[in-house]
Amino acid sequence: MTAIGQPLVRRDGAHKVTGAATYAFETPVSAPLFCHPVQSTVARGRITAIHTAEAEVLDGVVDVLTYRTAERLASTDDAELAVLQDRDIAFRGQVVGLVIAETSEIARHGAELVLVDHVEHEHDAELSEHRDDLYKPAKVNPSFPTDTDVGDLDAALAAAPVRIEQTYRTAMYHNNPLEPHATTALWDHDSLTLWDSTQGVHPSRATLATVFGLPPERVRVVCPFVGGGFGSKGLPHANVVLAAMAARAHPGRPVKLALTRQQMFSLAGYRTPTIQRMRLGADRDGRLTAIGLDVVEQTARLKEFAEQTALPARMMYAAPHRRTTHRLAALDVPVPSWMRAPGECPGMFGPEVAMDELAGELGVDPVELRIRNEPAVDPESGNPFSSRHLVECLREGARRFGWEARDPRPGVRLEDGWLVGTGVAASVYPSRVNPGSTALVRFEHGRYAVEIGAADLGTGAWTVLPQIAGDALDVPVDDVDIRIGDTRYPKATVAGGSTGTATWGTAIVEAARAFRDKFGRTPSHGDEAEATTEKNPEAQRYAMYAFGAQFAEARVHADTGEIRVPRLLGVFAAGRIVNPRTARSQLLGGMTMGLSMALHEDSVLDPRFGHVVNHDLAEYHVSVNADVADVQAHWLDERDEHVNVLGSKGIGEIGIVGTAAAVVNAVHHATGARIRDLPVTVDKVLPALP
Ligand code: MOS
Repeated sequence: MTAIGQPLVRRDGAHKVTGAATYAFETPVSAPLFCHPVQSTVARGRITAIHTAEAEVLDGVVDVLTYRTAERLASTDDAELAVLQDRDIAFRGQVVGLVIAETSEIARHGAELVLVDHVEHEHDAELSEHRDDLYKPAKVNPSFPTDTDVGDLDAALAAAPVRIEQTYRTAMYHNNPLEPHATTALWDHDSLTLWDSTQGVHPSRATLATVFGLPPERVRVVCPFVGGGFGSKGLPHANVVLAAMAARAHPGRPVKLALTRQQMFSLAGYRTPTIQRMRLGADRDGRLTAIGLDVVEQTARLKEFAEQTALPARMMYAAPHRRTTHRLAALDVPVPSWMRAPGECPGMFGPEVAMDELAGELGVDPVELRIRNEPAVDPESGNPFSSRHLVECLREGARRFGWEARDPRPGVRLEDGWLVGTGVAASVYPSRVNPGSTALVRFEHGRYAVEIGAADLGTGAWTVLPQIAGDALDVPVDDVDIRIGDTRYPKATVAGGSTGTATWGTAIVEAARAFRDKFGRTPSHGDEAEATTEKNPEAQRYAMYAFGAQFAEARVHADTGEIRVPRLLGVFAAGRIVNPRTARSQLLGGMTMGLSMALHEDSVLDPRFGHVVNHDLAEYHVSVNADVADVQAHWLDERDEHVNVLGSKGIGEIGIVGTAAAVVNAVHHATGARIRDLPVTVDKVLPALP
């Protein structure tokens, strides 16, 4: 029996629930020091003096690092990581000092005693599509064209008998993994060891080695367990540099630094708010002739991050005339970064709500409208899709959800005082294999060991990688040990872009084949073989994506406007599913995060101060158990031979794509109120109720 496809329980599960799994901050070390950052209280300015004496005399404070006392970094090319290097303040919450003490409480107390004198410069922290300084970035994350223009959008819109022209807005969102960004660091004998909560030990090592001017082999990064990342631990942020700096300033003593929940709101990245001007042109039977999407979003003046929001609009539906643009406002704000499905997640909100509006305008069922606009080939590249089962997802989802009985009229079903409606939206996420991940297979004492510097964010890598290895070696999965999360193992690429299983799994399959080729079925103790992933040549010939259909039911109280989502149902075509248990958990988690985006999450930035005012979990609302009712994730039996040797596509992110649009479309069907800016809250719905 093959191990792939079995719902095996998590190998790390018992360690976690019993508390035996050590996270970065808990790394057992002797006599650690603790760090607490001092943050700027203005959004832009220049430090004129820092008064550290009061903190320094506090019993237990060991050191206070400032731009005057911190070491000069070897590379300051990444301005976000160039901490404590100069007097400039680029955003509110930026680190201007670091207190190092014998306990975390003393460090925190000390940080409060550090006083910073500064001249405050005028700052600008307000995103608007009407700014006259919006600019076109050279590329969008990570290296896609900023704009695309095919055909003649304006002429096609002018000629279209039916048009939808609306502006949609998604909010600013902050990643809030359970485990904060945390590091234990030790500088010893010219080598740096970081036990860091990260999505990639090797990428993290490469970055830190560059920043400190060290050969990479003198930096070791260890990370067996991660309490969630969602992209916010995909790239090292300033906290990791600070921990390493503190360790280097105190050789031989381990130091610990964990961001507080509040500090995570300015130091760990966030999803940029987006403004999406969406234009659709269609003929009377709903065939799209024109798709236009002009995105305005923010970046930090300190460092550019240009989210690739318009990407899915380029490939999702057939239309001969298409134009997409991205424009940025560079603001005096913290640096935006990755958050679960950057690009696709916000980028499927405007288009999928616009499709719902178009369906209403035409009197065509929204499921049917999407099916009518199914492209024969990828509209962007002209290549065939390696597999595209969106239509099947829509049909299967409609069947399971009970869509057929739906009365298309909005705002007409009242049950016990609640207006009830249903909505649909499509999902998409690219399928990729990252080149440059190496896996090693070794035979030891009658068992197989697989080593690869992969990361398990809670996603299931500890469990699914042995399944892949067991099948590739043709041995029971229980005969395979897996070793991940340490730069001592072969180099692996980041757990990001839903590439982990596909990439590391490919390396493992190829290493297993190399092993069998070399040693046959009766290896000796110590035999080993390795393999490294390469660019998938099929990616030049095929467009490769996972697809999905999301269905939502919304109930809105006719008197109070209270919004409930009793049902979410997703059907995905995401290639071969390696482990149904961990896969379902990923998809349900993504959908729940999408529900949270639809109804709750909203980082409120006060432009007067450049500050996210709701910077804690009391005020930044995340969907909790009581908000999440019946959530179902299903998938089609799909195996795609082109995407990789496993036939699997990524599943970490697609679950969040389209969910918010499905909820907004359901709220419209329930009430007749069309909400175009997230989140959907009572204050927006109430005035529009019938
Ligand atoms: Mo994910 S935002 O690609 O780590």
